[in-house]
Amino acid sequence: MLLLGMIIVFGSLNMDFMISLDRLPVAGETVLSSDYQLMSGGKGGNQALAAARFGSKVALIGRVGTDNYGKTLRESLKSNGVMVSGVAYSDTLPTGCAMVAKEKSGENQIIVMSGANVETTHEQVPDEILIKQNVLLMQMELPVDQTVTLLTRAKAQGLTTILNLAPAIMIPGKALGHLDYLIVNSIEAQQIAEKLNLPTGNNAIKLAQALAIKGQMTVIVTLGMKGSVAVTKNGEGWTVPIMPLDQSEVVDITGAGDAYCGTFAAAIHEGKTLPEAMRLASVAGSLTCLKEGTQNAMPYLDDILSRLDEMPPAEKLDV
Ligand code: RIB
Repeated sequence: MLLLGMIIVFGSLNMDFMISLDRLPVAGETVLSSDYQLMSGGKGGNQALAAARFGSKVALIGRVGTDNYGKTLRESLKSNGVMVSGVAYSDTLPTGCAMVAKEKSGENQIIVMSGANVETTHEQVPDEILIKQNVLLMQMELPVDQTVTLLTRAKAQGLTTILNLAPAIMIPGKALGHLDYLIVNSIEAQQIAEKLNLPTGNNAIKLAQALAIKGQMTVIVTLGMKGSVAVTKNGEGWTVPIMPLDQSEVVDITGAGDAYCGTFAAAIHEGKTLPEAMRLASVAGSLTCLKEGTQNAMPYLDDILSRLDEMPPAEKLDV
């Protein structure tokens, strides 16, 4: 199928220090690890790569330092088919880094040192590519004011807009109204519902429903091992499980959320329905857990399609 348009990812690039631990430290505690690995990451880069491996044309807009990490991140994305001409260099700041600590149970903690990411501006996205055939995909690791301004510009031009509100940094309520899709995990959903004075609690469907009405958008809440739920502004709801995995094969869950978002954006851009896109995204997220790292672990379209039969169908929710 000849597909017009592309996915614009406005997002972060980080060099990830992946550290394996027997258990995560508590506040004030020092723990030892014998090893670490340097791997390409950053939510923007990860989601861009997931969309590119699904087969989409993807342009990443961001910023790195002039150091070796920045060059490595740019080059590895480029060699994976992501257009990186919109990834600028900072004259003063180093490339962003993240410390990703993982314990054997699968729990992780991530600390991001933003570096050059904080200098990314919406002006790096030219008007010429803000056209309605394109999809804009964003996260919350770049300056909020730049993200909101770009979102406003994009909506005015009729692009499909998707925000993965991770980490859960608040955006103005008005900006939510410019979104077509909001993707959050259950903790992030509770945090923004609280900030918006909406009813909270741990019922993901009710949270999604309240947020969908507030922002007049589709809200997807990812639930880790329990899959994901979505509620549209018209009150239609869907639930999708994760792909059943042999737990002994799961090595790293760090990239699962980014695989979900990038694949979802690519599937929506390709014209898939909401439940179809969620199902494909869920397979991608699950497959990512079978390999170390984030970008390193992103599946290709063939990998996703070859396991799709193992996924139970999406179920319609009574909301
Ligand atoms: O979502 C995982 C990502 O979060 C990591 O790659 C890290 O860089 C942070 O951005």
